[in-house]
Amino acid sequence: MTILVTGGAGFIGSNFINKWNNSCEELIINLDNLTYSGNLNNFYNKPDNEKHVFAKGDINDKKLIYNLFDEYNFRAVINFAAESHVDKSIHGPEAFIKTNILGTFNLLECTRDIWRNLNANRKREFRFLHVSTDEVYGSLKASEKKFTEQNRYKPNSPYSASKASSDHLVRAYNKTYGLPTLITNCSNNYGPYQFPEKLIPLIIHNALKKKSLPIYGDGKQIRDWLYVEDHCNAICKVLDEGDPGEVYNIGGNNEKTNLEIVNYICEILDKLKPVENSSDIKSYKELISFVKDRPGHDRRYAIDSTKIYKTLKWKPTETFETGILKSIQWYLNNQEWVEKVVDGSYQDWIKKQYK
Ligand code: NAD
Ligand code: TYD
Repeated sequence: MTILVTGGAGFIGSNFINKWNNSCEELIINLDNLTYSGNLNNFYNKPDNEKHVFAKGDINDKKLIYNLFDEYNFRAVINFAAESHVDKSIHGPEAFIKTNILGTFNLLECTRDIWRNLNANRKREFRFLHVSTDEVYGSLKASEKKFTEQNRYKPNSPYSASKASSDHLVRAYNKTYGLPTLITNCSNNYGPYQFPEKLIPLIIHNALKKKSLPIYGDGKQIRDWLYVEDHCNAICKVLDEGDPGEVYNIGGNNEKTNLEIVNYICEILDKLKPVENSSDIKSYKELISFVKDRPGHDRRYAIDSTKIYKTLKWKPTETFETGILKSIQWYLNNQEWVEKVVDGSYQDWIKKQYK
């Protein structure tokens, strides 16, 4: 049997495929249209081998998806494909609506059409796993309890609103048509192959280039950080053992302010790659610079992972300290990867973001 993975050339999808290919023989077809954040250099093994076939294309392309379903016997679809950066969604929400909402809708429609004609066994065993985010729940006050699967959806950015919308569609396809769907809502990921537009790789990259380290607003916003491999393990668990129609929150139990994260990265870099004696600065911390806040900036995210822990026995294996050390070491050892992704399109985006 085979699995259709969408958005598998991005940060989490490629970590998922690398892990899958290391531990499993089952073939993955990776449908990805290679936006600025998709990258075929993210794989340990070059795609198009007996375990991983790459199909360049858009999740909005009906014909292509039907062709893939025709050619391969999919037992599951895992939908990672998305526009994923909040700041980008503020500057240009349209792409988020097209991919995250319309693209998910198209994928659901094609899948439903194929799924309803499968035999009873295959129909029952089929899974549509939609990878989503904790941002759909909005922002927490310091005193509020962590997000559970029962929290109301209160998205605040075009990104989180588009993901919330796609989650609702996935839910509706389960309730209305009986499609065996699963939804995962995960907190902020970090680790190898993350595009340097997101906080952690951006800070590592800028520090190494001795560029300023931008902290939005007062830097006291809180995120719940999870090492990407732990997220991938959780997705495998949910795919194998999750109950169709269910939603699973996935978190790292690592609430940290952005300022804590940036200071910690600087401390590790000061040890692993101290600034040269000839430099104007003594510590990377001197590069920290407070900049204008993000509009609608969510103050705090925190995930209550009790459900996935109790029902599927999943919990993270990395602490923040072990995960961030691995990540920083990875970026130090893979500067060539970073240089390659920091190409023209990335530069255009950075120019727009920072005028
Ligand atoms: P990413 O931006 O690194 O990767 C997205 C991938 O999707 C890229 O390879 C891109 O080329 C592809 N893609 C975009 N539009 C497409 C389209 N129309 N058709 C086909 N492919 C398309 O994102 P990521 O950080 O890997 O996130 C993956 C998923 O996980 C997203 O759905 C995101 O919402 C969710 N998520 C991310 C985080 C996080 O911290 N990064 C946390 C929770 C959930
Ligand atoms: P980000 O990595 O963009 O993830 P998200 O917005 O999905 O949580 O940002 C993480 C936090 O870091 C968020 O509160 C915004 C903040 N941030 C900065 O302070 N400076 C930056 O340069 C970036 C990219 C983010």
